[in-house]
Amino acid sequence: MLKLVLKMIDQLKKIKEELLISAASTKEELEDFRVKFISKKSVFSSLFEKFKELPDEKKKEIGQRLNEVKTFAQARFKELAGQVNQSHVTDESVDVSLPTVPVQAGSVHPITQTYFRIIEIFERLGFNVEDGPEIEDDWHNFTALNFPPNHPARQMQDTYFLSDDKNCVLRTHTSNVQIRLMSDEKPPFRAIMPGRVYRNEAISSRAHCFFHQVEGLSIDKAVSFKDLKQTLYHFSKEMFGKDTEIRLRPSYFPFTEPSAEIDISCFICKGDGCKICKHTGWVEIAGSGVVDPNVLENCGIDPSEYSGFAFGMGIERIAMLKYQLDDIRRFSENDLRFLRQF
Ligand code: DAH
Repeated sequence: MLKLVLKMIDQLKKIKEELLISAASTKEELEDFRVKFISKKSVFSSLFEKFKELPDEKKKEIGQRLNEVKTFAQARFKELAGQVNQSHVTDESVDVSLPTVPVQAGSVHPITQTYFRIIEIFERLGFNVEDGPEIEDDWHNFTALNFPPNHPARQMQDTYFLSDDKNCVLRTHTSNVQIRLMSDEKPPFRAIMPGRVYRNEAISSRAHCFFHQVEGLSIDKAVSFKDLKQTLYHFSKEMFGKDTEIRLRPSYFPFTEPSAEIDISCFICKGDGCKICKHTGWVEIAGSGVVDPNVLENCGIDPSEYSGFAFGMGIERIAMLKYQLDDIRRFSENDLRFLRQF
């Protein structure tokens, strides 16, 4: 019996030591403490079982010790619980169980979405993405692209001039990047050049003073008009659906010869005629052509060795067709009711 008494005294000592060095910094650690020292299955339960077996003369002494350590455990639990809760809530007026105020998530702008989709389609055809400046000189925006000094096509571009000598402009198209790429690097190239462009135009539902274009350029030995046609045919099907047909109409651009305007079959009315296609069954999506030999020469590329095609399309135009929108101004008004729909 003496053995049991000594064993219990020893156990209580060890429990007390354990309690003295106990700590809890999380709710989980606090719970572990509670299970071990406070709950029905705590270390004290088995000691109280053994207590019943003790001879009466020892019960008083051991009972006192047992109660003392148990009371100490309860006090320690309160203390630890206070510390854990305080580390989470410093101000009692804050109710951490309340739902949070929802954060309004933004959406990707429809122009950016269209831009990403265009890049994705052309990247799979082996086109790189190139970038160029929005503030440009006359050479890269006009002269190297075969716009003679007093050519009417210059006036048609509605240019914003940034200097009195008219040498510094806000680029009117992304074709400036063609010139930079061809002058800076050696062919072959296959690249698309997306970016913002500026025109001094009256703002209306169909025109804006700034918008976005994607330029395309492919230069190699023996690249021809049929490669242009095949590339834009593939693009149109990927962008607007596999039943889309394309039509090329003869046109004029100073930097391409021959030049063509690319139309796609109206994917809304399938050719029957509707508002979007102005009842013609066709909608225009791009200007294009075979790069003029003068342009190649201006960039130091030998036209007897290399040839290529180029195209340019408006990203707003593609987005308006794709999402069936009728007002270009919506893209730049920052009206969340509009933007959240995409
Ligand atoms: N730069 C022309 C414009 O802004 C679009 C264009 C037409 C680009 C034909 C081209 C092209 O590369 O070949 O109106």
